Amino acid sequence: MTTSFNFADALLDWFDHHGRKNLPWQQNPTPYHVWLSEIMLQQTQVATVIDYYNRFIHRFPDVQPLAKAKQDDVLAYWSGLGYYARARNLHKTAQIVSEEYTGRFPKTLEELINLPGIGRSTAGAILTLGYHQKYPILDGNVKRVLTRFFAISGWPGNKKVEDNLWQKAESLLPDKRIANYIQAQMDLGATLCTRSKPDCPDCPLQSHCLAYNTASPTDYPEKKPKKTIPTRTCYWLVCQNGDELFLEQRPSAGIWGGLWSFPERQEKEELIAYCERTFHFSVDNIEQLPELTHVFSHFKLTIRPLLITSRPKGVTDKSVGNWYKIDDIMQLGLPAPVRSFLHTLQ
Ligand code: ADE
Repeated sequence: MTTSFNFADALLDWFDHHGRKNLPWQQNPTPYHVWLSEIMLQQTQVATVIDYYNRFIHRFPDVQPLAKAKQDDVLAYWSGLGYYARARNLHKTAQIVSEEYTGRFPKTLEELINLPGIGRSTAGAILTLGYHQKYPILDGNVKRVLTRFFAISGWPGNKKVEDNLWQKAESLLPDKRIANYIQAQMDLGATLCTRSKPDCPDCPLQSHCLAYNTASPTDYPEKKPKKTIPTRTCYWLVCQNGDELFLEQRPSAGIWGGLWSFPERQEKEELIAYCERTFHFSVDNIEQLPELTHVFSHFKLTIRPLLITSRPKGVTDKSVGNWYKIDDIMQLGLPAPVRSFLHTLQ
């Protein structure tokens, strides 16, 4: 059975009734207006961008005044939007467009993506919304709509997945109303096909959305795979005398700087040698306690605590470390795994 469903027609029909048509950059969508709004919207919500956009356009109504401005002046109008590389690139691009393109944005993809701060999707937005040429875009909203509609697995930041998405985006382009169609894709993603609570009952694509019909739309797009991080191992010397434990303060530089912890070495032998030097007794009876793990952003630490009990206190040099009652230890600044280890010990 053939189906008469047409993605673009369904989306355009929805756009006519529900699309956003009153945003300031939509009122007179020159390439300059489209470009500026796209750059502002890259990392910032529409609601925040509106005021910044209006102020910016009032001060820099076109490429030439922006190109001539001092960078500090441009940054002042960007102040509060964050990601200031966007503003510096904006200024550079205005100067290039002013000097090399007589103040008019180029009309080819190749020329546009050579300008600072303009990638393929932003170039697509300028070419479609500003010049009514037939090009795809692939911003976060469109990626979400397409990965769901086609149930495309894999993380969209992955090159193969992204290439596939560009192909799909291109294959769906209509011959007419390209600017409305591109705006409709953005609007659907922003208002209806949202990340965590998509409004599928009201979606014009629902009948042919593969994610909706075979799985759950929120399963797409897949998240960035977690990096596998290296594991390091260390040993802790847990020297116990009655209700007291021996702790040392970690050097201020490095992990857990300035916090109180058990003497720590990478190798068991190093730790035993340290113990014999510090406490002046030979270590003959060590109990290895269950391992702990602690995850840092760049590595995972496996900790093997070695318990030595019923030994005399052998330390008077406070600069080395100190004996503490377990209850008092809880009042010190402790690394999280030390604190949880002490709970298990109690
Ligand atoms: N996000 C990115 N581009 C947009 C646009 N033109 N309108 C609304 N939201 C957007």
